[in-house]
Amino acid sequence: MRKTVLITGGAGFIGSHFTEYLLAHYPDYEVRVLDALTYAGRRENLAAVEGDPRFIFIHGDVRDKQTVREAMQGAHDVVHFAAETHVDRSILDPDAFITTDVYGSFVMLETARQVGVERFVHVSTDEVYGAIEQGAFTEESPLRPSSPYAASKAGADLLVQAYARTYGLPVLIVRPSNTFGSRQYPEKLIPLFTVRALHDQPLPLYGDGQQRRDWLYVGDHVRAIDTVLHRGQFGEAYNIAGGNERANIEVSRLILHTLGKPESLIQFVKDRPAHDRRYALDDSKLRALGWRPEADFETALRETVLWYANHPEWWQPILQNKQDYQAFVQRWYGR
Ligand code: TYD
Repeated sequence: MRKTVLITGGAGFIGSHFTEYLLAHYPDYEVRVLDALTYAGRRENLAAVEGDPRFIFIHGDVRDKQTVREAMQGAHDVVHFAAETHVDRSILDPDAFITTDVYGSFVMLETARQVGVERFVHVSTDEVYGAIEQGAFTEESPLRPSSPYAASKAGADLLVQAYARTYGLPVLIVRPSNTFGSRQYPEKLIPLFTVRALHDQPLPLYGDGQQRRDWLYVGDHVRAIDTVLHRGQFGEAYNIAGGNERANIEVSRLILHTLGKPESLIQFVKDRPAHDRRYALDDSKLRALGWRPEADFETALRETVLWYANHPEWWQPILQNKQDYQAFVQRWYGR
């Protein structure tokens, strides 16, 4: 069936992978990407689809009602990725998290209601649940966010639920765990530690390095969103788990081993305030729709680390950006 899908945040890490995936797997689909190209959204991330006649790029902000309305007009489905996503930045400057993640999602929902879309997929996060010591969160677990980032995503998640109940908007929510792969901004654990190790710089591991995350490969993540978009039930949320729970120190060692660098590069530094100790998700609801993760963690991590090692042209301009990247790194790690 011919259809048009609007993807917000499509020039970011997961959004660009999802855009590529959709165009490759659905020859009848047209994709519109709406992206503000803030620090983490980069047009280069869409290089593989530029020139495809089924692809349109719109430079604009989800907080701008007029732009969103024009972008959504005539779209059948919406997949809403656009968000500020880095916990540490949210601790320094929460402002943009509230305006983009909460208010921007409100603009998206309100426009979807007025325009009348067929499906609205909201990309939430496992961080809305907060930390869990043992076991795993189900979609019914209470939302207890720890950081301004997580709270802004929880606010958006609740708004999406309210729009389903109040207005009958055909929404679907996904709550994915920590994702990794190529083109992830080098402020997140895996790309940050990889580019620092490549420069023989210390890897700043927070606290005791024993915090645990469940790692989800980006290829499995985008297949999960495809599954929910096409087979999910309206009004429902779906956890996306990677099934690869590891302590941060283990991930750090794997990165160093892949690059042939010494473990002495690991440097324990001051912890992040309100640092969630462990995340874990029960993904049986999503598996019941036929999805399961396919990537082998060690293999996918090695391939990811080698992708950064082989693509300095992708991350070098970021590292050289004094106004954004260097200023953030100095403010955060020098605090
Ligand atoms: P991150 O990639 O920021 O994702 P999230 O906070 O959403 O889980 O961090 C992953 C884990 O790595 C988290 O427990 C924090 C830790 N971490 C460090 O130890 N040092 C760092 O410099 C960064 C960025 C993260």
